[in-house]
Amino acid sequence: MTKLRIGVIGVGGIATGRHIPAFLQLPTVELVAVSDMNKAQAQKVAKDFDIPYVCEQLEDMLDKIDALVICTPNKFHAPIAIQALNAGVHVLCEKPMALNTQECEAMTAAAEKSGKVLLIAYHWRFMKESRAAKQLIELGEIGEPLVIRIQSMRRRKVPGWGVFTNRDLQGGGALIDYGCHLLDLALWLVGNPKPAEVSGATFNALSRQQGLVNEWGTIDAETFEVEDHATAFIRLENGAVILLETSWAANILADEESLSISGTKGGIDVFPLRINKAANGMLMTNTVDFIPEEKSYDLLQAEHFVACCLGESTAIASPQESMHVSSVIEAIYESSTKGASVTINSN
Ligand SMILES: NC(=O)c1ccc[n+]([C@@H]2O[C@H](COP(=O)([O-])OP(=O)(O)OC[C@H]3O[C@@H](n4cnc5c(N)ncnc54)[C@H](O)[C@@H]3O)[C@@H](O)[C@H]2O)c1
Repeated sequence: MTKLRIGVIGVGGIATGRHIPAFLQLPTVELVAVSDMNKAQAQKVAKDFDIPYVCEQLEDMLDKIDALVICTPNKFHAPIAIQALNAGVHVLCEKPMALNTQECEAMTAAAEKSGKVLLIAYHWRFMKESRAAKQLIELGEIGEPLVIRIQSMRRRKVPGWGVFTNRDLQGGGALIDYGCHLLDLALWLVGNPKPAEVSGATFNALSRQQGLVNEWGTIDAETFEVEDHATAFIRLENGAVILLETSWAANILADEESLSISGTKGGIDVFPLRINKAANGMLMTNTVDFIPEEKSYDLLQAEHFVACCLGESTAIASPQESMHVSSVIEAIYESSTKGASVTINSN
């Protein structure tokens, strides 16, 4: 059996914690090469996971592989993905797709031209609650979605490691890093309507205070430059709306990740999964007590990417869908700066 040869670039936390262990479980895959601007890290990872090649240059790696997993900081997603696609290599790229819509468009164009797979690793789509919710919505349980509420809230968990608070490398803070997951999931659940208009506001007053109480390490208040809290009202082209709130730091009671959709026939809460309805003259809630889960979402995502590369499946997320997520994020930042709503002209 010919195996899909995979390389990984940027072999830090997410590559070693999620992607490499997942791909190593697949018999149809051979992990052949790693690359990292920190050569010692690349060598360590190659040794730890028994991966044959450490490549200093991306070109050297592209000769050896059929597919590339990109786990670098966000700034490098677009240039690396475009170079790989132009070389005829499939790409699985960590979220967010890129720093802005313009970069996403260039990546989408490269994917279309090459005919290769470009999948963005929005792994929340593979969670059991998400897949079950998608099924229930497609079965018509809630009717037409009207109002979608997303909360990805952390009370005091500003990442005190890596480059997460570096605007140049990441493009923003809590929204582009954390809120993006449920935004992508919400758009997918309601059938990917195009975003039309955004009014947003971002804040970083808490992280700019000296001596922030923080559960995830220490940050420098003086140099903190991204948002730790963002809110937005998002109009979709089909008339539905999204109310979004996300934070790394906020004066709230507790951390919370929730996504709920109110539709014409019923409503759905995804975490935990339940349907809210009016029926037989009563208001009732159907709670889902058990959803079978044979495999972790990391493994499902890896399997899905490989199946797409082998032509056995169609990607769960098109590049355009991931670009819509980025266009909303970009519009929230722009709206916050302008203090006015922003229109999105989605392709
Ligand atoms: N899906 C998720 O839940 C999730 C969670 C965390 C991070 N991420 C994403 O994964 C990516 C990486 O995050 P991380 O937490 O692994 O960061 P990290 O800092 O742990 O690892 C990044 C690695 O990339 C290397 N690197 C930096 N620039 C490079 C370049 N130009 N070429 C090659 N290597 C380079 C660094 O040396 C480092 O080893 C980011 O895009 C982030 O948004 C996703």
